[in-house]
Amino acid sequence: MTLGFVGTGHITVAMVEGLCSAPLPGEGIVVSPRNAANAAMLAKRFTNVTVAPDNQGVVDASDIVFLAVRPPVASEIVRGLRFRSTQTVISLVALHPREEMRALTQPAAVLVRAVPLPSAARRLGPIAYFPHDETVEALLARVGTPVAAPDEAAFHRLWSLTGLISPFAALIEEWQGWAEAGGVGREAAEQYVRAFVHCLADMAQDLPPVELAKRAATPGGINEQALRFLREKDGLAPFRGALDSVFARMNAPKPR
Ligand SMILES: NC(=O)c1ccc[n+]([C@@H]2O[C@H](COP(=O)([O-])OP(=O)(O)OC[C@H]3O[C@@H](n4cnc5c(N)ncnc54)[C@H](OP(=O)(O)O)[C@@H]3O)[C@@H](O)[C@H]2O)c1
Repeated sequence: MTLGFVGTGHITVAMVEGLCSAPLPGEGIVVSPRNAANAAMLAKRFTNVTVAPDNQGVVDASDIVFLAVRPPVASEIVRGLRFRSTQTVISLVALHPREEMRALTQPAAVLVRAVPLPSAARRLGPIAYFPHDETVEALLARVGTPVAAPDEAAFHRLWSLTGLISPFAALIEEWQGWAEAGGVGREAAEQYVRAFVHCLADMAQDLPPVELAKRAATPGGINEQALRFLREKDGLAPFRGALDSVFARMNAPKPR
């Protein structure tokens, strides 16, 4: 099986790094010549990666084609390509609905939308995708945790959650700043919150969030106290507001 990438930018680099370091790699990977520096770097690092002369060269050589160009140029680029009926296309392109990309990639058999994170390079992180497809799920499982969305609105909801990376980082920074303001040195505060978040993420692997919250909230303990304080102030509501605003943008009229 040969995998192709049209658009060799940040997310393609992450996906290729992840795929090439996964157990049992070995399939051929063909990337498009733009970005030239990224394409050359990947071909130099991984013997199974080659650079096609152009985008059509990627499509011609591949069984599964990833579309990884930016939204404003995506339609124009994909419209100029010829696909085969045996191919599967995975569109990573934001904002362009599945039906549009499916029409542009006819007669390709399958069109799936997916949203990996840059952490795919380390084979970590959720990858929302829609619709469900066994082959695509098996492929994505090599670089993260695929989560099938039941419909496109649900897919947009999961994609919206990826907008919480910076807010989450800012929240951790807030905790660090609070510790520093009380006299904990910067280095110790940073070391503490980073290890703390790592351990929270690990605990979240073992328990559903509702269970984790319950277990940590010992009656009369400091977790129960802090959670009650936040809930009384509706202090988690701004996160819902932020997600609503991102979700609304995802469903706004699309760039053509
Ligand atoms: N980054 C993420 O975390 C992420 C996650 C999920 C989905 N996505 C989606 O993936 C897509 C790519 O995102 P990105 O972050 O990888 O963007 P990016 O780094 O800007 O990569 C896009 C690449 O497309 C290349 N390109 C421009 N015109 C082209 C053409 N005519 N033919 C082939 N390639 C062309 C650009 O090359 P030059 O550098 O030479 O201009 C650039 O390297 C976007 O639609 C984004 O929504 C991104």
